[in-house]
Amino acid sequence: MDLLMLEKILIALFITIVTAIVIAKFCGKCLKLPPSPLPVPIFGNWLQVGDDLNHRNLTDLAKKFGDIFLLRMGQRNLVVVSSPELAKEVLHTQGVEFGSRTRNVVFDIFTGKGQDMVFTVYGEHWRKMRRIMTVPFFTNKVVQQYRFGWEEEAARVVDDVRKSGEAATIGIVLRKRLQLMMYNNMYRIMFDKRFENMEDPLFQKLRALNGERSRLAQSFEYNYGDFIPILRPFLRGYLKICKEVKDTRFQIFKDCFVEERKKVESTKRSENEGLKCAIDHILDAQKKGEINEDNVLYIVENINVAAIETTLWSIEWGIAELVNNQEIQQKLRNEIELVLGPGHQVTEPDTHKLPYLQAVIKETLRLRMAIPLLVPHMNLRDAKLGRYDIPAESKILVNAWWLANNPAHWNNPQEFRPERFLEEESKVEANGNDFRYLPFGVGRRSCPGIILALPILAITLGRLVQNFELLPPPGQDKLDTTEKGGQFSLHILKHSTIVAKPRSF
Ligand code: HEM
Repeated sequence: MDLLMLEKILIALFITIVTAIVIAKFCGKCLKLPPSPLPVPIFGNWLQVGDDLNHRNLTDLAKKFGDIFLLRMGQRNLVVVSSPELAKEVLHTQGVEFGSRTRNVVFDIFTGKGQDMVFTVYGEHWRKMRRIMTVPFFTNKVVQQYRFGWEEEAARVVDDVRKSGEAATIGIVLRKRLQLMMYNNMYRIMFDKRFENMEDPLFQKLRALNGERSRLAQSFEYNYGDFIPILRPFLRGYLKICKEVKDTRFQIFKDCFVEERKKVESTKRSENEGLKCAIDHILDAQKKGEINEDNVLYIVENINVAAIETTLWSIEWGIAELVNNQEIQQKLRNEIELVLGPGHQVTEPDTHKLPYLQAVIKETLRLRMAIPLLVPHMNLRDAKLGRYDIPAESKILVNAWWLANNPAHWNNPQEFRPERFLEEESKVEANGNDFRYLPFGVGRRSCPGIILALPILAITLGRLVQNFELLPPPGQDKLDTTEKGGQFSLHILKHSTIVAKPRSF
């Protein structure tokens, strides 16, 4: 090839590249993107809006930019949706288009780049995982099989608190005991196992590791490396810790639970005794070649996080509101006594006869939504939302907390008033039948665990209120209900000390 030819090829190549860039730029300008603060190069809006993108800060931005707005966080596009109409569009009408999940660098580690169910994109793998998990976890049969276990665990909490000398006087951090209860509720379903007490070393280890996993994942401190890829090398230390926590947890799930269960199963099956627990069903799917061993462990991981923590946070919020609203607590107690008679301990079937208890739970989930931004959704391809273009792979946050706390849609939403669900909002259910109220999301990626969470919440709060007078600690007239928001979580900042005065029947 002579020099002239080479020169011609290079010039042609140069013109092609420049044309491509110009066309790309031009087309970018053609896009009608949602309103957004003015982005600066490289950082986008990150320096303006900061790291703490919790539901309240995003609500403030919605008041400024509207029901749909775009934040450019370095390389990531973040679209925030804040009206029932647009929430319906994302979760229902265009449920397939927006049915995927984004993962950041940390969630990539904890979910093995989406080998789990919660954080995988919408597609074949998700469908298979959701199908495999449905029979062992998400049916009414499971509720009827395990509700006796949940009632027993709640009774044990009541017994332990009654026995504690401090509970009735200076108070105790009730959450600690309830955490053990939630682990037992879910580990009974998963592995037919329970932890005897809070000192159980395996429980201690799991509790600490799951807590660390949550803290690492929900923190905003790693945003910089996620938003600006060239800064990622500075995250190396953080990501190494994430990897270690993940590996240790998975080793425990495998050695102490999955393998143990396999041993129990092999002896039991031959004697044809015992009911199947969830992991038996999951292992059957593995034997059939539908999923691999890693997927099994990711299912265990998902339940540890999605089921235990969210329900525990909601119980904690419910107790805090009942302590701070004594007349509501008393009204609830009166309902239980009137309907069930004194001394009859609340069971799962009873909870359907207790409308005020149901209203207290709904109101807790409204005002103190455990997952206030839902789990982030994502569109795999370019999409349209409202009148706007949404570039492919945008992270879509539905501000469900604001939908349920916007004074344009609710009477005095800042007030904890369960009566609203018996009066003006009596038709609103937690299952997403009203797009103003989505504590469990709605549509394809909605929470399948709602079927377990609601009865567990009702049994636990019902039993606590019927057995104790729940009060703030001496010298305090209210509990501190400061919130702590994470990437998409909301829990109480300080685990409150609560006085639980036993009641006699
Ligand atoms: C009060 C307790 C709970 C609350 C408030 C809650 C809330 C939520 C929310 C908001 C989502 C995301 C919905 C969306 O992105 O559109 C979700 C997803 C999920 N939840 Fe729950 N949840 C709770 C309890 C549970 C329990 C007990 C389980 C399991 C036993 C569970 C399993 C899941 C799973 C597997 C997903 C992912 C679904 C998917 O991506 O397809 N959750 N939950």
